[in-house]
Amino acid sequence: MTSQENSLNQDSPLLDHSPHSLPAVAYYDEAWFQREQRAIWARSWIHVGRVTDFPPQTLTRAAVAGDNLMIASDANGTLHAFHNTCRHRGSVLCVAEVEPFNGKLIRCPYHAWAYDIQGRLISTAFGTPTDDFDKREHGLFSVALKVWNGFVFVCLDDQPPSFEPDLGIGVLDNWPMDSLVVGHVFEKRLACNWKVFWENYNECLHCPGVHPTLSQRVPVYRQGIMSPNEVSLGSPKPDAIPALEEGVQTWTVNGALCGAEFPDLSSAERADAHTFVTLYPSLYIVAHVDYVRAVTVTAVGPEETILRAQWLFTPQTLAAPGFDLSNVTDFATQVMIEDGQVCELNQQGLRSSRFTQGRLMPQEFDVYGFQQWVLESLAQVEADADAKPKSTPSA
Ligand code: FES
Ligand SMILES: [Fe+2]
Repeated sequence: MTSQENSLNQDSPLLDHSPHSLPAVAYYDEAWFQREQRAIWARSWIHVGRVTDFPPQTLTRAAVAGDNLMIASDANGTLHAFHNTCRHRGSVLCVAEVEPFNGKLIRCPYHAWAYDIQGRLISTAFGTPTDDFDKREHGLFSVALKVWNGFVFVCLDDQPPSFEPDLGIGVLDNWPMDSLVVGHVFEKRLACNWKVFWENYNECLHCPGVHPTLSQRVPVYRQGIMSPNEVSLGSPKPDAIPALEEGVQTWTVNGALCGAEFPDLSSAERADAHTFVTLYPSLYIVAHVDYVRAVTVTAVGPEETILRAQWLFTPQTLAAPGFDLSNVTDFATQVMIEDGQVCELNQQGLRSSRFTQGRLMPQEFDVYGFQQWVLESLAQVEADADAKPKSTPSA
């Protein structure tokens, strides 16, 4: 008899075995980290900010997979991404984190070569090229850019993968995402590998112990699970478990809505109360009925990760008399601090000489799925490299 027949609901996603976790070295080894940079961070769509983070007529730097990029916003606010390097002798073009430009010409600060907003080389300034120099071959190195629901993504790969949020491209269609504005930002540097953070995100076994306040608000979390279909037989019927504790309307300190509910949500979306959308490896979104929180994950080094959370509201909610921002932001900030603490504890223990590999519990099916995605991504890039004809550099 399998464990599914034994104790689980029919539609349960729980694993029927306890697989091994990734090897400990995956969480601190520099060479492993660099493999992931190439295989995952340089090949995926990476979130770099909200559209409003890139005002018209600005150049903004962005770092992705160790590469220095710039996002150019033209006079209309249309965004273009390039590698931040000049085709003359390689100076950076965007010097500050954010700098103004005229929306038309990007001029190198070194010898003043100028490029248009499409990246075409327009002028070599005082340099007078000979006939063997073709301007058309010396445009900026462009980078794929995509805007989805006001979130800006770039992909370093020349052939970007299809853009696929885990719940589908239309998952946020009933939220007025484009018109939401950032009301608060919280940034936290964690002394842990980026995968430690995502693994923690992907299970709720830690919720009862680590998040007492959140678990008090979300009944399934008290059971150490993420959704009702994970409960064992003998527990309350799945659909009898409400998304939020009685009397609680949303994720705020006092449990009350912070503003009007978004008007176009379906009854299922209202009943769910919090819709989690995941875009590995750099973003997750929690869409509530009255506001949205988006958290950007950046892998800085093998044992260093930055979280950047943005709270998004309608302008009307933000401007309403009596609106209490900290009543909203303190709640999830506390949850993120609690998660950050256990992620750092996890990282420290992974460094033990005796710990080589862990074991996953059946409820950690999403951790398992994440780890398989990491391993498959690494295998794919290495297979692609093997398939490429080897060339020797010319003298
Ligand atoms: S390096 Fe840019 S113009 Fe010389
Ligand atoms: Fe957590």
